[in-house]
Amino acid sequence: MKGLHILHVAGARPNFMKIAPILARCAARPGLRSTLVHTGQHYDEAMSELFFEQLRIPRPDVNLEVGSGSHAQQTAAVLQRFEPILLERRPDLVLVVGDVNSTLACSLAAVKLDIPVAHVEAGLRSFDRTMPEEINRIVTDAIAELLFVTEASGVENLRREGIDPARIHLVGNVMIDTLLAHRDAAARSDAVERLGLLAGGYAVLTLHRPANVDAPATLRAILTPLAELALTMPVVFPVHPRTRAALGPHAALLASGHGIRPIDPLGYLDFVRLMSDARLVLTDSGGIQEETTILGVACVTIRENTERPITVTHGTNRLAGTTSAGIRRTIEAILAAETGARPAPPLWDGDAAARIVATLEAWGSSR
Ligand code: UD1
Repeated sequence: MKGLHILHVAGARPNFMKIAPILARCAARPGLRSTLVHTGQHYDEAMSELFFEQLRIPRPDVNLEVGSGSHAQQTAAVLQRFEPILLERRPDLVLVVGDVNSTLACSLAAVKLDIPVAHVEAGLRSFDRTMPEEINRIVTDAIAELLFVTEASGVENLRREGIDPARIHLVGNVMIDTLLAHRDAAARSDAVERLGLLAGGYAVLTLHRPANVDAPATLRAILTPLAELALTMPVVFPVHPRTRAALGPHAALLASGHGIRPIDPLGYLDFVRLMSDARLVLTDSGGIQEETTILGVACVTIRENTERPITVTHGTNRLAGTTSAGIRRTIEAILAAETGARPAPPLWDGDAAARIVATLEAWGSSR
């Protein structure tokens, strides 16, 4: 087999923990050559640099530095800047992960140049087309050649959409590869002590979905029951940059002393330590629903739906919706329920990247 040249794309924070184990596995295979492109969708030290360092991701070969903007602006900037890179580097395959604007834009640029795309974390569906990520998932899956799926629901979704079963590969979850590989290092983080918290005695909150944070009335409805929870245990809130801008009108709910405690975004190892020792995690993130499933930590998802239903059927995750009453009720129920580790979902075993790389090699030699 002539060497297979894979161009890997990473753009935003949740991409970095997915790409890390794939790049590491590829580097160990003599028949594979990798190029890494960072689109620069996330660019802050705390949202990007720190993850490269802690997850030992190699320096990107190219950074497109697209930065922030409206969806159209951001997507267009990636399309425009990625195309010349493809023409110059001529990869055999472009590998994208997740569901961010960079995932969609790089897939589109590649297929238009007749370069096949592999999509890692394919097939997830919230069935909510008002979520920008849902549009990114549907379009990327429709044009990708190889679809790597984390959970059985994803396979069903893709088949229902008429995708050729030969393109679908249920391989497990690369985010869990990274979690398992870094669990020991995370246990050595002093984040819990640094923040003055007691293991098992606090909650962790993250919020960044546009539907939750952009409208002040919705954000207030979400924060109100969480401020009530904060009267019984500390609620630590690493704040995403998009959310920081939206918090202004809600300062009273975030008062020091009592109240929710906003802090800067954390690095990967600190955040895994913080989740591991929490009594409860409250979130609207996709990845955190998966990570708490493996950590055996109670998770309240502040959304009406999830594209990751296995975290509810096999894990500790419960959907609360976004009303004060729904969130209050779900917190009470989850605190009253048994928690603890459960059997991991099938193939969430730390070897998903190895299965992906084996499939890529087989695909490369059959061309
Ligand atoms: C993006 C993804 C979302 C993912 C999330 C994880 C899309 C459509 N959304 O949402 O799926 O769950 O990342 O974080 O791709 N900002 C900074 N510094 C940064 C990055 C962003 O200050 O390093 C600010 C920007 O000014 C922007 C806001 O955060 O206004 C949102 O960033 P953006 O990348 O547009 O989307 P996210 O909300 O982060």
